[in-house]
Amino acid sequence: MWQGEVGMRIILIGFGVVGKSVTAIIARRYSERVKDYGFNPKIVAIVDVDGAVINPRGLSAEKLETLRQKGFPISKDPEFGHPGMSALDVIESVEAEVVVEVTPVNIKNGEPAMSHITKAFKTGKHVVTTNKGPLALALPALMELAEYNNVYFRFSGTVGGGTPMLEFAKRCLAGDKILAIKGILNGTTNYILTEMAQKRVTFQEALSNAQKLGYAETDPTMDVEGFDTACKIVILANWVMNRKVTLRDVDRTGIRGVTLQELDEAAKRGNTIKLIGAIDGEGKPTVKPMEIPKTSPLCVSGVLNAVTFHTEFAGEQTLVGKGAGGVETASAVLRDLLEIRRRLASKMLS
Ligand code: HSE
Repeated sequence: MWQGEVGMRIILIGFGVVGKSVTAIIARRYSERVKDYGFNPKIVAIVDVDGAVINPRGLSAEKLETLRQKGFPISKDPEFGHPGMSALDVIESVEAEVVVEVTPVNIKNGEPAMSHITKAFKTGKHVVTTNKGPLALALPALMELAEYNNVYFRFSGTVGGGTPMLEFAKRCLAGDKILAIKGILNGTTNYILTEMAQKRVTFQEALSNAQKLGYAETDPTMDVEGFDTACKIVILANWVMNRKVTLRDVDRTGIRGVTLQELDEAAKRGNTIKLIGAIDGEGKPTVKPMEIPKTSPLCVSGVLNAVTFHTEFAGEQTLVGKGAGGVETASAVLRDLLEIRRRLASKMLS
């Protein structure tokens, strides 16, 4: 339904692969979005490690393109650069409706994203993030803080990249009861296990290929030890099943111990081994290598992710898609922005 044009001023924190893709995707097909959705986003500030660029009237598509292309620190921009200005200063002083937080993941203390997100809430700004760190450590508290400050908090890109796993469960399965969730939620480990099973390469060889191809996190421990999957299962548990759990509650085993012999034995039984994140209504969230039938819809190969929702009435529903990638994850950010815009336009807070 057309609800009139709603302007949305955005502060973008983080200008790496995802941040750059967010600016590209917002600039692309801009007029179509205004026409189709009444959605008029303007990026008023971008903050990177060295400082910020700020234009309260919105950075033009040309300026965003220049910032993406040029190698220089963005804060050296001659027109709008503010060298040394921190994200917290920008969130505090620049007028905007939404903060998009896409800095690198840190699961030790969630910083700097944790401070960015809480500062945004306290200054009355909605938040869209793709950063799993703060969510894995403190999602129940962050959801409460957002509600207390009457702002929206969305994080579609944290699970499944561009594949709408959180929305599918929350919206499409509304009315049904989700009894349990099981998923392959990490592309790197799925790639490694697929390579080992199909090409009989060692774990180490498969890992270095995954790193060369850019699938693995900066620190591959996040992937291979199951932390990344654990973060995602925590987010699903809180958002979809109303479980109040954090990373500390997850019973986690990574894939380093999976051998070629175990994969061969599983294959003889028509099965294979995958790193599965799982949660149900009562038990602890778990992450561990599990044998699953090759015929299971969950049994996807390569870097694909897949998640099965076990529901009370609709049975098992499985969603498959790419779980990572700059543009894919940026598409989730855009989806979240549109959702916030829709809610703002209808003046419905939830
Ligand atoms: N390293 C992650 C993966 C990226 O392999 O799935 C997306 O969270």
